[in-house]
Amino acid sequence: MAEEEIKKGLAGVVVDYTAVSKVNSDTNSLLYRGYPVQELAARCSFEEVAYLLWNGELPTTEELAAFTARERAGRPLDPVVKQVIDVLPVTAHPMDVCRTAASVMGARHELAEDSSREANMAKAVDLFAAMPAVVAYDQRRRRGQALVEPRNDLGYSANFLWMTFGEESVPEVVEAFNVSMILYAEHSFNASTFAGRVITSTLSDLHSAVTGAIGALKGPLHGGANEAVMHTFDEIGIRPEESLEDAAARARAWMEHALANKKKVMGFGHRVYKHGDSRVPTMKAALDKMIAHYGRPELLGLYNGLEAAMDEAKGIKPNLDYPAGPTYHLMGFDTQMFTPLFVASRITGWTAHIMEQLESNSLIRPLSTYNGAEERHVP
Ligand code: SDX
Repeated sequence: MAEEEIKKGLAGVVVDYTAVSKVNSDTNSLLYRGYPVQELAARCSFEEVAYLLWNGELPTTEELAAFTARERAGRPLDPVVKQVIDVLPVTAHPMDVCRTAASVMGARHELAEDSSREANMAKAVDLFAAMPAVVAYDQRRRRGQALVEPRNDLGYSANFLWMTFGEESVPEVVEAFNVSMILYAEHSFNASTFAGRVITSTLSDLHSAVTGAIGALKGPLHGGANEAVMHTFDEIGIRPEESLEDAAARARAWMEHALANKKKVMGFGHRVYKHGDSRVPTMKAALDKMIAHYGRPELLGLYNGLEAAMDEAKGIKPNLDYPAGPTYHLMGFDTQMFTPLFVASRITGWTAHIMEQLESNSLIRPLSTYNGAEERHVP
């Protein structure tokens, strides 16, 4: 095969159809099952969007009632999963805890080896319902705090915040969190979703595919970027009393120095979107509300300074992880918990793709061009 035919990173390579979502760089748009993600973020609960991704339609009132009852029933942290988490050191990366928890849930699931759509739907809903408890408990145990049991009088997002902080969040914080969950849910053949589809294409089980997807998402070039964004803010230094302008000036200087040293700055750029990530305006609006709610204009200064300097230097725009990181910081999540939040949301997109892959499966096995030693024989 000629050298020029190699598509490093599969950049620009179309490998299959999907009906789950449409990412359009030209129009800078994202549709989940045909609905613009901005409309879903403005009008729906994350439960409704999860239902949509799996079933292709938004739920009726009755369907939503049955679905949310099912989701609430799956919220309590499995005692065995808690035992496993408790033997993992608090120095373990939370993405490793997420990955381990998903694997244990798979090993224990009574439908583990049943790959029918009904069984996979049940497993998907179980993971969707259970992940908040895993993420919430992992943050709490690192702070020496006890597990907080779920509350079934709260929706998915409000309960996730309740289990994490042990107190009810105000509606505007719940709303911003709900928006982040909807925006993070699905994004066509991104690296972690494609990893899940590759594993599924061998007819392996759903939990194996999700465990592999979590491994892929951990990387800072992908989901790990939202954690890395906060490390950038911390490296520049967050000074609560600083003026927006002064913070912006310090951020600009940091970015100019970083780029002069050929540094890759997480939270910027995207393989598909070349004129900006369609989800950023919606997530940025949520961040703005959180900055106003918590009274932290200096964070907006850092945000603006980095964005402007990157745009001027390289014309590269922020991706979703850039506004998401500081939003989660303001809500009180520890920085290393940011990508596990992405996991809790993307469980929906991953499992929708896993079920779609099985509908018209073909083993995913690309070619390579050999450039090793010429043929030779053992002396
Ligand atoms: C997510 O795919 C998805 O849909 C992912 C995602 C989803 O919802 O699933 O959207 C979630 O992963 C968002 C992306 C989060 N990752 C980061 O923020 C990491 C930083 N970004 C870069 O690593 C990069 O932009 C990628 C990996 C996201 C995309 O890279 P590409 O398409 O492979 O492009 P590239 O790395 O070849 O960069 C092209 C040029 C290079 O310049 P030159 O070396 O040719 O001079 O742009 C530069 C790069 O150096 N560049 C950057 C940069 N991103 C690109 N330079 C500095 N900082 C950056 N962030």
